[in-house]
Amino acid sequence: MNEDIQRILFTKEQIAEGVQAAAAWADRLYEGKKPLAISVLRGSVMFFCDLVRAMKTDVQLDFMMVSSYENSTERSGMPKIIMDLSTSVRDRDVLLVEDIVDSGYTLQRMRKLITERGAKSFTSVVLFDKPVRRQVDIKADYSCFHVEDKFIVGYGLDYAQKYRNLPYVGVLKPEIYNE
Ligand code: IMP
Ligand code: MG
Repeated sequence: MNEDIQRILFTKEQIAEGVQAAAAWADRLYEGKKPLAISVLRGSVMFFCDLVRAMKTDVQLDFMMVSSYENSTERSGMPKIIMDLSTSVRDRDVLLVEDIVDSGYTLQRMRKLITERGAKSFTSVVLFDKPVRRQVDIKADYSCFHVEDKFIVGYGLDYAQKYRNLPYVGVLKPEIYNE
């Protein structure tokens, strides 16, 4: 175990089970369709790769990087796009893949952006949901795990760009956050 981790919340095996269930759900949803799966970088990258690999659907892949606004006044607007999609979402069934829904602003902004660009449908699948932290009334269509109000790292999720490559998800020792 990484020395900065205090406690593992989800093991590699537990995550894999959650991802398989999400893939089966998405396969049922998109039967006979060719959805466009979008990974919101960087946090969702591990989940995205494992999810689409577990799906049997004929899925296309694209990537987008957005920044989270610190400034609350901008939160209801459009996301700041750091790297845009290379595929048009017009008339496509879009499956948005996110790591975690916290306040809900990112998911809300992504939904607005993709629907305004003319997607035929918008569905969101997230690995983690922290419902107690929600600031806006939004819910992912599918979430693998609920988490309490704790900051988690690993399997794509970072703290100051670290710990993304851990194969499990856990909480850091309190002294790491205070350094
Ligand atoms: P929201 O816009 O507040 O819902 O935040 C979503 C984004 O915040 C996620 O995509 C993550 O990048 C980040 N985030 C929220 N909670 C955590 C956490 O516990 N660990 C790591 N990143 C988090
Ligand atoms: Mg993120």
